[in-house]
Amino acid sequence: MESLYAYIPTDRRYALAHGSTLPDRTTGAALFADISGFTPLTEALVLALGPQRGAEELTGWLNKIYDALVTQIENYRGSVISFSGDAMTCWFDDQTQEYINPHPRTSSALRATACALSIQQTMQQFEQVDIPGAGIVSLAIKVVVTSGPARRFLMGDPTIQLVDALAGETLYRLATGEHHAHRGDVLLDRSTVSSLEKEIEVLEWREDPESSERFAVVNNLKPRVETDPWPELEADALGHDLVRPWLLPPVYDRLMSGMGEFLTELRPTVALFLGFSGINYDSDPEAESKLNAYVQAVQRILARYDSYMIQLTIGDKGSNFYVSFGAPLAHEDDAIRGIAAAMELRDLQMDFISEIQIGVSQGLTRTGACGGIHRRTYSTIGDAVNMAARLMQNAPLGQVLVNQNIRKATMDNFTWEELPPLLVKGKSQPVTVFRLIAGQERHGIHLHEPKYALPMVGRAVELALIEQKLDLALHGHGQIVGITAEAGMGKSRLMAEVIRMARGRNVLGHGGECQSFGTSTSYLVWQNIWRGFFDLDPAWSMAAQVESLERQLSKIAPSLLPRLPLLGAVLNLQIPDNELTGSFDAKLRKESLESLLIDCLRKRTRTLPLLLILEDCHWLDPLSHDLLEVIGRAIVDLPILIAIAYRPPQLDRHLTPRVAQLYHFTEIPLTDLPAEEIEQLVSFKLGQIYGEQIKLPQALIEKISKRAEGNPFYIEELLNYLHDRDIDPAQPEALEQIDLPDSLYSLILSRMDQLTENQKTLLKVASVIGRLFRVAILWGVYNQFGDRERVLDDLEALSALDVTPKDSPEPELAYLFKHIVTQEVAYETISFATRAKLHDQIGKFIENTYQDALNQYTDLLAHHFELSDNQTKKREYLLKAAEAAQKDYANAAAITYYQRVLHLLPEDQRVIGLLKLGQVFELVGEWENAEEINREAERLANLINDVQSHAQAQRALGWLLRKQGKYSAAEERLVRARACLIGELECPRSTVSEDLTWVLVYGDDAQRRGAQ
Ligand SMILES: Nc1ncnc2c1ncn2[C@@H]1O[C@H](COP(=O)(O)OP(=O)(O)OP(=O)(O)O)[C@@H](O)[C@H]1O
Ligand SMILES: [Mg+2]
Repeated sequence: MESLYAYIPTDRRYALAHGSTLPDRTTGAALFADISGFTPLTEALVLALGPQRGAEELTGWLNKIYDALVTQIENYRGSVISFSGDAMTCWFDDQTQEYINPHPRTSSALRATACALSIQQTMQQFEQVDIPGAGIVSLAIKVVVTSGPARRFLMGDPTIQLVDALAGETLYRLATGEHHAHRGDVLLDRSTVSSLEKEIEVLEWREDPESSERFAVVNNLKPRVETDPWPELEADALGHDLVRPWLLPPVYDRLMSGMGEFLTELRPTVALFLGFSGINYDSDPEAESKLNAYVQAVQRILARYDSYMIQLTIGDKGSNFYVSFGAPLAHEDDAIRGIAAAMELRDLQMDFISEIQIGVSQGLTRTGACGGIHRRTYSTIGDAVNMAARLMQNAPLGQVLVNQNIRKATMDNFTWEELPPLLVKGKSQPVTVFRLIAGQERHGIHLHEPKYALPMVGRAVELALIEQKLDLALHGHGQIVGITAEAGMGKSRLMAEVIRMARGRNVLGHGGECQSFGTSTSYLVWQNIWRGFFDLDPAWSMAAQVESLERQLSKIAPSLLPRLPLLGAVLNLQIPDNELTGSFDAKLRKESLESLLIDCLRKRTRTLPLLLILEDCHWLDPLSHDLLEVIGRAIVDLPILIAIAYRPPQLDRHLTPRVAQLYHFTEIPLTDLPAEEIEQLVSFKLGQIYGEQIKLPQALIEKISKRAEGNPFYIEELLNYLHDRDIDPAQPEALEQIDLPDSLYSLILSRMDQLTENQKTLLKVASVIGRLFRVAILWGVYNQFGDRERVLDDLEALSALDVTPKDSPEPELAYLFKHIVTQEVAYETISFATRAKLHDQIGKFIENTYQDALNQYTDLLAHHFELSDNQTKKREYLLKAAEAAQKDYANAAAITYYQRVLHLLPEDQRVIGLLKLGQVFELVGEWENAEEINREAERLANLINDVQSHAQAQRALGWLLRKQGKYSAAEERLVRARACLIGELECPRSTVSEDLTWVLVYGDDAQRRGAQ
């Protein structure tokens, strides 16, 4: 619980603990600290460790520095109000709160200045950061202090998250000062300087030309200001109900479940920055309530998209906030959510908010707690976040700008205009940007079969069955078919064939789609269907649509006209009530609407059979669901086929549509495509993306099929990945380069995020063990799962969800990740630090448990320890695995093991390792590699000046040269080897002599023969 306090600014924490509030107007000193050197540090870490691990290390550094700085802030009774990337804004209050005992001893200006100076001192330890493999990077900080009045706002919907913010001119001066501060500076504004007067010496004044504000550079305080930390706060000073509102709900849940170390993750996310102005924070007495109303309205819009505001920044020239889609909760359609939300936020009507600019971008980000032990926040860090901020700054007023990734992911849903490439800070090349033109209405008055680029593969049995049902329907026996399968298995693809089939028989169709974020939008899926049914085009004006509706309805039956206003609900039209409908209560409205629609269907289908398609019914909203049920029941004697598609309900915790209970319902489950159809699909897809019929390497097909496990969407995405990265599928290396596409990552992550915290953690730990994991190991390595019964229950639940089906029962109880990609995603999200720890624990567990048969586990141990930070074990087992492989004549494996272990060995052992590797190369006839490795051994032996090593390297080279028939060179090495060994008793001098004799005798002989 105590660690949760860190999510609340310190002064606010004390006020809460004493049942008090902070005044919204106050005076004091503001301190802004901005760390510089992060770009070179990022570059160095990426160079040394690669992009992902580099990003993680960077977060580690950031937190280490923040921790040191937060300690200083707290030492002088300051409070960190907010973090933004690599900067933080803090407040030192002037007013003494009676509940804080003892009171601070000195003024806020003095404390803030003393703190600023000690921050500079603290930073000295980071002046020379040595990044092995990338050199020295220098980190520094600039600090600005301003004093005066400020406003302290408390905002936000407590059921979502409370937001604390500082505003007002003292804060704006802070931002101005930042522009004039350099690395290592402490800058004070005039009011701070005048309140300190004789206590400081100003080294230099700097003036801001625009505002004429002056800032003093200082490096010393005359009186020594003792640290004056906050008094202790009891560990249980704040109850859960007080702390909970300060954390995002999913973050709170994770921390409460004790799984905090899994908060740090790598995830694909969508970042949205929105800039706005319109509130005068100094002079408007209603500033707080206005901003609060806006923040809450925004939070509520975002809640519908299951996304959160992460950071709010208030400035005089404009304020902004940052929203993350995908962290802490992922959705397969985060990009679409991001843009749909952007449109809503852009159009949000609040008369005091103006000058809205929005930037959205997508990419991999590192998520987790950011800050120090005593004060932190949940944040996401990555290129996409910076890019979204830049796009916002460049967006024309009232516009949404996005990057290429977003446009690509939302092309089917929104219309974009490409703008001239934009040069943005931090990028060497101009970036391609797009402007949002409009959301695409999903109309099309009648249903058209969607165009798929690839021909249909397989599913003949299913189609034949649907055809039978269509026949029955056409004979007046209405039918419902439910196509069901996991995401990407081809439900929509099959639906396209159903539409084609219906059109072939002149059956008219109407269709609609549910939306993942539309489960509370009433009648969403039906809107398109009824628009089609009544021939309405949503592009027409409201009046034109209502007029046309009237005509259509009277054509169907004039007696229905009095109930027309009810149709507004299913058409998303505002139609004023008439006398009749105005008198209906809610229940009656709903029932009469349902019966009106059934009347319409009944009358229309006297002459015209119909096909109704409802896509993605796992996201049905409740009213649509009711309507589906009543219509489903009503069609038994009508020529109507209803086809619905839905994912199996288990994992997403949805319900199976209730129509599945009806006797004229047929469920059509889609199973994995068989191997030959997968192959066909791969070849169609390759033909499509590479534009030619290329010969497929069998290994590639196998690898793709194996990873895709019969799922067509996975196949397409894996091949798109190859193509997007310009990988030639005909090259054998292509296999190694197929990584995890973002689309798959998000899809799978979105399902994992539905699980309980415990189940999620189980999956993560299991993913480190392997695709098949024994419960004993799971248990042995991670003891924070709690009660054994609960773990077994969770495993059973995951098995029932078919995520990790049971593989073998007790006593060897084991489960298996059904899809490799699920294991990969679970593994990928875990931070490198935690992964390394888990691998180490797994290795040690195996070592302890199988002491008597360790030889059988050498490879497994090498695998786990190699990925751990346990250097000793890593060396030990990689070397053992290399030697074992060499012994078993598994030469390829031996070569990679040696290559992986060599750089870990101390130099004398490395010579031996190199020589062994040389032997394996020799054995497989790779002479050049063998020679190169032996020469490297020779160089190293010389370098360390070790006679033994030197002799062995010489001998190995001599031996190798001898085998290649290069006798005189061989002789030279062997003579040298022998010379080295004179006096070295334990050395196999005699072997060298034998070699030498061999060379001298047979070499001469061979040379003679060569000469003849
Ligand atoms: N039988 C098939 N023949 C050819 N292509 C297919 C087949 N099945 C699926 N595909 C392709 O695989 C991709 C995913 O299929 P589809 O969109 O139909 O999945 P879905 O089951 O509707 O998934 P979701 O639950 O996400 O809606 C599509 O691009 C589709 O063209
Ligand atoms: Mg679909």
